[in-house]
Amino acid sequence: MYRIGDEEVEELRRVIASKNLFRLGDPAKGHQQEVARFEREWADLIGVEYALCLSGGGTAALVCGLAALGVGPGDEVIVPAYTWMATATAALSVGAIPVIAEVDETLALDPDDVERKLSPHTRAIIPVHMVGRPANLERLGEITRRHGLWLVEDASQMDGGSYKGRRVGSWGDVGAFSFNDFKIISCGEGGAFVTHDRTLYDRARIYHDSLTTFPTFATDLSVETFVGGQYRASEIMGAILRVQLQRLPGLLSDLRRIRKRFEEELCGAPNLRIAPNNDSDGDCGVVVALQFDTEAQARAFARAPGVHGGLPIDTNRHVYSNWGPVLEKRIGHHPDMNPYNHPKNQGLQTDYSPDMCPRTLDILARTVYVKPDPDWDESEVITRIEACRKAAQAL
Ligand SMILES: Cc1ncc(COP(=O)(O)O)c(C=O)c1O
Repeated sequence: MYRIGDEEVEELRRVIASKNLFRLGDPAKGHQQEVARFEREWADLIGVEYALCLSGGGTAALVCGLAALGVGPGDEVIVPAYTWMATATAALSVGAIPVIAEVDETLALDPDDVERKLSPHTRAIIPVHMVGRPANLERLGEITRRHGLWLVEDASQMDGGSYKGRRVGSWGDVGAFSFNDFKIISCGEGGAFVTHDRTLYDRARIYHDSLTTFPTFATDLSVETFVGGQYRASEIMGAILRVQLQRLPGLLSDLRRIRKRFEEELCGAPNLRIAPNNDSDGDCGVVVALQFDTEAQARAFARAPGVHGGLPIDTNRHVYSNWGPVLEKRIGHHPDMNPYNHPKNQGLQTDYSPDMCPRTLDILARTVYVKPDPDWDESEVITRIEACRKAAQAL
């Protein structure tokens, strides 16, 4: 859905002409510091102190976040039943156990089910802002504060969106964004970790740079080093993302305008409801989410002429019941590296089954997404709204 064009080409030309594609270039030699500049700009946009751009995407941002927080074996991490499987596998990557909780009609983590799934082992909660729609950060934040847990925001699908006037990613102890090909802004792959906290930032920096292989990058660490992974971003990524960032306000405003128009026009239509939203103003407008009484109605609506709808239940590994490797505990390249075999993880909540979150399955099967194209003109928007109205009337 991202927009891309000549401006990115121009910036890439400039970076290539500098003959330095490595983020740790030398400004004295004319190297551009694109990644470092993007990190500052992204942190300012989100409203946090620190941002770390990552080659590894939203997955790497989640893993760096959990590693920075010291989450590991013996810990449970609550994740929603509706999210890309990477949210759950990020917890497994650091040796912790994902506990799968229901989403509610807002399509985000249900705070009531989170409360039911808390245990003495719970260490973190990961609300996911799916399809640009914010989770209930107020209630989830309150739960984490009351129980002394970490709040890890997975904002991979909500680059630049907000909740109650503050950007998502800035509510949690750490936040994760993705810039892969399906996202609101993109450089093909890549992501960002954000935090307000200097120690967490330093730990994420260490983790993302295999023990700060390049010590010039981290002469000012406030914590001891340890060996992590390698997720350094390149100047190519930084240059593209800096242009993408400039496109973001216009893109969000177009998406939001079209979504609002759909919702205003369809709110009185028969047989459908606009899905409740934790903050309609902060929503990015990636989808118009409509809900029906039954799956049969949702499917008939989605395939009606001119609607071009899709059901979230059909989105494969975004639905927990399709997380085969997790449900079957097939994790890691070696049995001793499988967190489910770790002695500290015995007795944790690992009793998974494909029908363990029936409410999520029901909601996802009764919901239809219509995806606005930010470049639709007025007549296209009207035609599509009319198609939706007709399809609803015909149910
Ligand atoms: C909700 C969510 N979390 C995490 C990820 C992982 O992001 P990436 O593919 O950039 O690693 C995605 C990617 O699609 C996602 O949608």
